[in-house]
Amino acid sequence: MLWISVVVFAVVSGMLIVAAVRGRRASDLSLDRRVISWGEPFIAIAGVLLPFFILGGVYLLSLREMNSLAAGGKGANLTIEVIGHDWWWEIRYPNGAVTANEIHIPVGEPVRVELSTKDVIHSFWVPQLQVKTDQIPGRKTVTWLQADGRGPYRGQCAEYCGLQHTNMVFYVIGEDPEEGFPLWLDEQAADAREPTTASQRAGRQVFLDSSCVGCHTIRGTEAEGTLGPDLTHLASRMTIAGVFDNTRENRERQNLMRFVANPHDSKPGVVMPPAELTDQELRLLVDYLESLE
Ligand code: CUA
Repeated sequence: MLWISVVVFAVVSGMLIVAAVRGRRASDLSLDRRVISWGEPFIAIAGVLLPFFILGGVYLLSLREMNSLAAGGKGANLTIEVIGHDWWWEIRYPNGAVTANEIHIPVGEPVRVELSTKDVIHSFWVPQLQVKTDQIPGRKTVTWLQADGRGPYRGQCAEYCGLQHTNMVFYVIGEDPEEGFPLWLDEQAADAREPTTASQRAGRQVFLDSSCVGCHTIRGTEAEGTLGPDLTHLASRMTIAGVFDNTRENRERQNLMRFVANPHDSKPGVVMPPAELTDQELRLLVDYLESLE
């Protein structure tokens, strides 16, 4: 398509330049219309027939390409659901595992992805792995993913959806299909870890007594909110809210603490309100959340 466009562009630009140069030379101030004998047939051929065949050909070519792109997902054994929210991604696996802003798939295997949205139009896009696919309210759209390496492959919402559209980010991570992936999937489907220290236990109580439970689920506790991301295995994720480093090495940067204390400083416009907690409660809460591997 690029080379077809280059040829068309070169021909049209060439004619434009010829017309500009010639037109100037012929400026004899007379307003008489020059009649060119081949003028009308030229318009019919170059303006109607030629574009008809070129655009028609390009259309057929892209239909073929689109077909073969869609066919790649036909043999998928695994289907996952990806639900768009303002401004994060919910990912559901058939075994009950739920995660956010992070998709793990077995390396080398196609995975069917069913897309929907809880609010406005979003668009699911992992430039290195698949074609952009819209998520439309009230509808289910389907795409598929296949990773040939571990990644992480960055994914991005590709339909403007409001203030934090830019930060509506997720990652696709390829796992070893024999061991790594089944293990990860089992772990993610399990209930949250029991707190092991006094501080983590106190942190869990802070969580359950606060407004957090209105929006978040931690499986295995009474927290069953569904407005925000499932936090059951929050500490196993690469990022907080898709954009802030959550890896163990970076915990000392206190991204989680800062995000919980005031999400609007980090991601202005998010639905999540600032935590109404004392510093002590906040520390206990974050201690508990960081234990949720
Ligand atoms: Cu979601 Cu842009």
